[in-house]
Amino acid sequence: MSDCREGRRGILASIGNTPLVELSSLYTGKPVKYYAKLESVNPGGSIKDRTALSMIDNAIADGRITQHTTVVESSSGNLGVGLAQICAYYKLKFVCIVDPHANAHNVNIIKAYGGRIEYVSEPDIETGEFLPARIARAKLLCQKDRDYFWVNQYSNIHNPLAHRETMREIADQLDGKIDYLFCAVSTCGTVRGCAEYVRESGLDTRIVAVDVAGSRIFPGGVAKRHFPGMGAGVRSPHCDDGLIAGYVLVSEQDCIRSCHRIVAREGLLLGASSGGVAAAVEAMQEHIEEGSNCVMIFADRGERYLDTLYSEEWIMQCFGEKCGEAFPGGGPYQASAPVVTLFDWNGGVSTEHSMDH
Ligand SMILES: Cc1ncc(COP(=O)(O)O)c(C=O)c1O
Repeated sequence: MSDCREGRRGILASIGNTPLVELSSLYTGKPVKYYAKLESVNPGGSIKDRTALSMIDNAIADGRITQHTTVVESSSGNLGVGLAQICAYYKLKFVCIVDPHANAHNVNIIKAYGGRIEYVSEPDIETGEFLPARIARAKLLCQKDRDYFWVNQYSNIHNPLAHRETMREIADQLDGKIDYLFCAVSTCGTVRGCAEYVRESGLDTRIVAVDVAGSRIFPGGVAKRHFPGMGAGVRSPHCDDGLIAGYVLVSEQDCIRSCHRIVAREGLLLGASSGGVAAAVEAMQEHIEEGSNCVMIFADRGERYLDTLYSEEWIMQCFGEKCGEAFPGGGPYQASAPVVTLFDWNGGVSTEHSMDH
């Protein structure tokens, strides 16, 4: 098995080559093998370490980043942490643009790495979303000072390119037999990179994107979202429906319930998007054939969510219910069930339905 980390030094050498673990208790019934790609073990705690490294290394290689550069990015979480870590290693200045939804814990981590925080307090007037307002701030900073370099994960091709490597690792780990891949989406960099690797390598893998209800990536109503990571206020140019077999929209309550179930059954403390991915697999059970290998990308770990998704008070405050089995005494699961949309699952047959729990 080749190692993507060869030739890298220091902390950078520990990014990638993450474990793939078999989940033995999460789902029962069908003879299917379920695997989790544990991106949570990257040194910055998430899959975004790969994205950050790929975008920074390529900008250094082509001269857009020099020792005088200040790196700028709009991020409310994991990418900010990944960039702060890598900029600290390279001794580059880093400015992270955040909005009031940013997780305070993540912001403190970015500061601890030496990153500077720029707060955007008002959303974009037209859309009411913060993301366009954060992007406008990044552009403004770069216009004012030519030594600023905006990483721009939404259009930087080294975002998806990083994840060809993620998929190559999975293919190596399972000798190329991956029947299904489930992946949470935000910029769609991960899903795109994985899908391009699958296509170019001739693998027979159906890729399912997992988004949170209320996001603007796929059609569906726009609504307030609480968790960083999954979903987006704008659809990034990396998103390409032609590369995926379908998508599942999960509610935030699905993510919570599912994360708690993963802790109880597998001993893994994960972030919200991992719960969403596992809930999507659960919703897709009837479409997954016996004897298959089904891989889930678990993008980050749970410690940064202790005050939200693992806090009974917070859940009650936000949702007014305990989200099913998330806490003892949680009532029947009330949230709207995942909505599955398949483009080309059985040779061009398109289906759309909501799954009952
Ligand atoms: C926890 C988590 N899950 C999923 C994603 C989605 O990744 P992508 O931007 O590659 O679509 C992200 C991205 O920030 C994330 O932080």
